[in-house]
Amino acid sequence: MLAIVKRVYGGPEVLSIQEMPIPLAQEDEVLIKVKANSANPADWHILRGKPYFARLSFGLFKPKDPILGSDFAGIVEAKGSKVENLNIGDRVYGENLGNAFAEYLVAKENILAKMPIGSSFKEMAGLPIAGLTAWQALMEHGKMQKGERIIINGASGGVGHFAVQIAKAHGAIVTGICSAKNRDFVLSLGADEVLAYDENDLQNFKDQNDLILDCHGNLNHSDLKGLAKRAVLIGFTGMGHMMKLLISNMFSKYSLKQFTAAANSEDLESLARMVEHGDLKTRIHKIYPADQIPKAIAFIEKMRTPGKVVMSWEQ
Ligand SMILES: NC(=O)c1ccc[n+]([C@@H]2O[C@H](COP(=O)([O-])OP(=O)(O)OC[C@H]3O[C@@H](n4cnc5c(N)ncnc54)[C@H](OP(=O)(O)O)[C@@H]3O)[C@@H](O)[C@H]2O)c1
Repeated sequence: MLAIVKRVYGGPEVLSIQEMPIPLAQEDEVLIKVKANSANPADWHILRGKPYFARLSFGLFKPKDPILGSDFAGIVEAKGSKVENLNIGDRVYGENLGNAFAEYLVAKENILAKMPIGSSFKEMAGLPIAGLTAWQALMEHGKMQKGERIIINGASGGVGHFAVQIAKAHGAIVTGICSAKNRDFVLSLGADEVLAYDENDLQNFKDQNDLILDCHGNLNHSDLKGLAKRAVLIGFTGMGHMMKLLISNMFSKYSLKQFTAAANSEDLESLARMVEHGDLKTRIHKIYPADQIPKAIAFIEKMRTPGKVVMSWEQ
C-alpha cells in the first residue's frame, strides 16, 4: 500500500509517499480501506515533534510510528474474530492518532462509527478530531444548556465551525469570533452574531455570555473571565501562554477547563446522527489528492483555514 511516511521530525518537507506493508488486523480490530483523510493541527504537531514534551509519547529522538495522520473515512475490508458491531463492507469513519494517511489502516471498533446513509467519505473524513473536540467541549466540559449564550473564539476554523453548528442545533445563542474576512462564513453556519477581532475591541463585549470556547487559544485569563461565566480552553498557541493561563486559574474561583479530546464510538455516533438529520455539515475549504498530503499539511499549518482541508485516495 502507499502511505505518507516520516522518518525524522521536521516540516512537511520530511514527508514522502512510500510503499509499506498492509497492516494485519488483530482479533479486536478491523482493516479499513481508506477513502479520505483530513488534516488537523495535531498532524503538524506530531510531524514536528512539538511541543517537545509530546516526544515522550511520539518518540524521543525520532518518530516511533512512520505513518502520519489521524482522521479517516473508508470501508471495512477484514475483521478480527472479536469484532462485534462492524462487518465487512461497512462504511466507517474515525480517528487514530497516527497511521491514518495510508491506503489501509487497522483500528479498534471503539474509535469508529458507521457513516450515515448518503454521506460522502470526504465530508465524514473532515469530522473526527474537530467534531469530537467541539462536541466534547460543549456537551461534556462546557455543560452547555439550551438557551445559553455561547461565545466561540476561532469560530471559522475546523473545531470552531463545528462548535457553532452543534451549539445552534442544541438551542444556544451563538456569537462567533473570527477575522472580518470570515464573517459571512461564520454567519452561514448559523451564528447569531459575529465579532471580528481585527475590527472590534473584545473588551467592549464583557459579561454577556454563559460559556466561552477558546478554539484558538490566544485569550488571557482576564479576557475569558470578562467574556463569559465559564470557559473551555481548546486551542494551543504556545506552552508559555497555556502555563500562564492555567497558573492564573489556580488562584481564581473561575471555571476554566482544559482538555484533550478522545475518540469514542458513542460521540462519533452522535455526530453522525447530526449529519443524518442535516444539523451538521463539514465545510470543506480545499481537497488535495492523497499524494499531495505534504502540501495539505503545509497549508493548514498557516492556521488560516475556514472549515476543513480534506485529502482523497479516490481518483
Ligand atoms: N484540546 C483538544 O483536544 C484539541 C483538539 C483539536 C484541536 N485543538 C487545537 O485547537 C486549535 C484549533 O484547531 P482547528 O482544527 O480548529 O485549527 P484550524 O482549523 O487550523 O484553525 C484555523 C482558524 O484559526 C483562526 N484564527 C487564526 N488566528 C486567530 C485569532 N487571532 N483569533 C481567533 N481565531 C483565529 C482562523 O480564523 P480567521 O482566519 O478568521 O482568523 C482559522 O479559521 C489548535 O490550536 C489545535 O491544536 C485542540
